[in-house]
Amino acid sequence: MSDEAKTLAAAAALDLVEDGMRLGIGTGSTAAAFIDLLGARVAQGLTVTGVPTSERSARQCRDLSIPLTTLDETPELDLAVDGADEFDPALNLIKGGGGALLREKIVAAAAARFVVIADAGKQVDVLGRFPLPVEIVPMAMHPLSLRIAGWGAQVTLRQTAPGEPFVSDEGHHILDCAFGPSIGNPAELARRLSALPGVVEHGLFCGMAERVIIGHADRVETLMG
Ligand code: A5P
Repeated sequence: MSDEAKTLAAAAALDLVEDGMRLGIGTGSTAAAFIDLLGARVAQGLTVTGVPTSERSARQCRDLSIPLTTLDETPELDLAVDGADEFDPALNLIKGGGGALLREKIVAAAAARFVVIADAGKQVDVLGRFPLPVEIVPMAMHPLSLRIAGWGAQVTLRQTAPGEPFVSDEGHHILDCAFGPSIGNPAELARRLSALPGVVEHGLFCGMAERVIIGHADRVETLMG
């Protein structure tokens, strides 16, 4: 999908940002477009503080002189803005394509409002075309892979190169679990995944998004929860 669509969605989210807000700042290419626009507003005098959801986004914020804070200093946020890999009509999401799902979920949960920005290509009727990222403790990789495969998913350990597992900002591995477009009850799958020892977090965000701002080539559309 075009960069314009992402930028349009990011710009619409920026309209929700008010002076003095404590922000959660997402990860990924759409969130990066939001950070760019936020940086320009900060340069013009907007006062905000942000908790970034990844080292990558933190670097981008620092480069743009966006003031950063932590959840230790600022445990309650006004607004979190982040991208998504898929969203369904009920605003359930799959996130974690960029590997930041754990921090993303912690930050979104700390925010009074969680707004998703995504291009129209992320909209699906039923979640699961995008492989669901599941962040795990490394020693649990084999039993968890077997268990989740038994639920009908093709399970792949995310790697940065052959034999080199991806390591998240929090030091975990990620299993990409391809269920196909069949996750009709995301909340139930979320509960089952969370109950597995060794699962740190999964990329199903259910009942969290206040709205999804969908970027099209020349306009935005908003789905409200
Ligand atoms: C990062 O871990 C993800 O949850 C991203 O928010 C998601 O992958 C969307 O990324 P893009 O905006 O690059 O599509």
